Amino acid sequence: MICLGIESTAHTFGISVVRDKDKKVLSNIITAFKTKSGGLVPAKVADHHIDVLEDTFVKALETAGIKAIEIDLIAFSQGPGIGNTLRIGAGFARSLSLLLNKPLIGVNHCIAHLEVGRFLTKAKDPVLLYASGANTQVIAYEAGKYRVFGETLDLGIGNFLDTFARNLGLGFPGGPKIEELAKKSKHYIKLPYVVKGMDISLGGLETNLKNRVHQGKDSKEDLCFSVQETVFAMLIEVAERAMAHTGKTELLLGGGVACNKRLQEMSRIMCEERGAKLFLLENQFFVDNAAMIAITGIEMHKAGVKTPINKSEIRPYERTDDVDVKWR
Ligand code: ATP
Ligand code: FE2
Repeated sequence: MICLGIESTAHTFGISVVRDKDKKVLSNIITAFKTKSGGLVPAKVADHHIDVLEDTFVKALETAGIKAIEIDLIAFSQGPGIGNTLRIGAGFARSLSLLLNKPLIGVNHCIAHLEVGRFLTKAKDPVLLYASGANTQVIAYEAGKYRVFGETLDLGIGNFLDTFARNLGLGFPGGPKIEELAKKSKHYIKLPYVVKGMDISLGGLETNLKNRVHQGKDSKEDLCFSVQETVFAMLIEVAERAMAHTGKTELLLGGGVACNKRLQEMSRIMCEERGAKLFLLENQFFVDNAAMIAITGIEMHKAGVKTPINKSEIRPYERTDDVDVKWR
């Protein structure tokens, strides 16, 4: 089976072609909306997705070396995400499904970050530490659903890092720039560490850092190093507690922040200490991408899940545990 996946939950528009029989991602085209300064205006991001839609589609088919008529299934990200941008992907998916007369399948974006790991690695039943711009969640399968075992109570970790980087004058996206500067320091500045039960909170830390940057006493390098050590330790703590609670012995990383080598290293140390296995992916499968949507679509389709056009409405607020997982 050949599945075409479409991703459009936020600033990334992606199209991918995945072949099921040999578990091959034939193409994974990612086009990300970027700004030089300022945040994302939903209507502008939606316009970007329309601008790149045709090129992305043609490139995805060309790279995969297939023609549109060879597609057996069309998967799209149905939610959660920004309404304006979700609508672009969903509308295109419906049109393709009607034109090609092939089944349509709506996929939950957060679950797709976990399924891509199960498809591409040997992980069978991992706990997912999903750390992206807007999302920060620890997710695992339990009793018929993917459940959120811990999450941020306020800011997403990536958005938090980007705001801190902007305050330091580092530009967007901030995560990679912070990582580079952090390598130049080993001096730890004690910062607020807020873990509440299974959840984390970053709002207080954000204010603390804004004040520190304003005072100008600490070096950028020391701040970047200390921020990474603090917030990644918070993530690892809740991920570890979820593993202990569920008795699971595999950890998978996901989301753009998972590209960070220090977060990967801390994850590896934690897993080694508790005799668990860590699974990492190529960066193209950590960040928002359409391959994970196609992969999840294939799994759902094989389990008989269907999304008729009249049930293909976008679901901007869909939660991970809203989805009945019939394919596991
Ligand atoms: P979602 O819609 O799922 O929340 P997103 O739209 O934010 O995702 P992603 O590509 O998953 O998109 O993640 C982007 C985030 O990842 C940005 O906040 C960016 O700063 C962060 N990031 C990217 N590379 C690194 C890195 N090396 N270290 C830390 N953070 C990083
Ligand atoms: Fe994501």
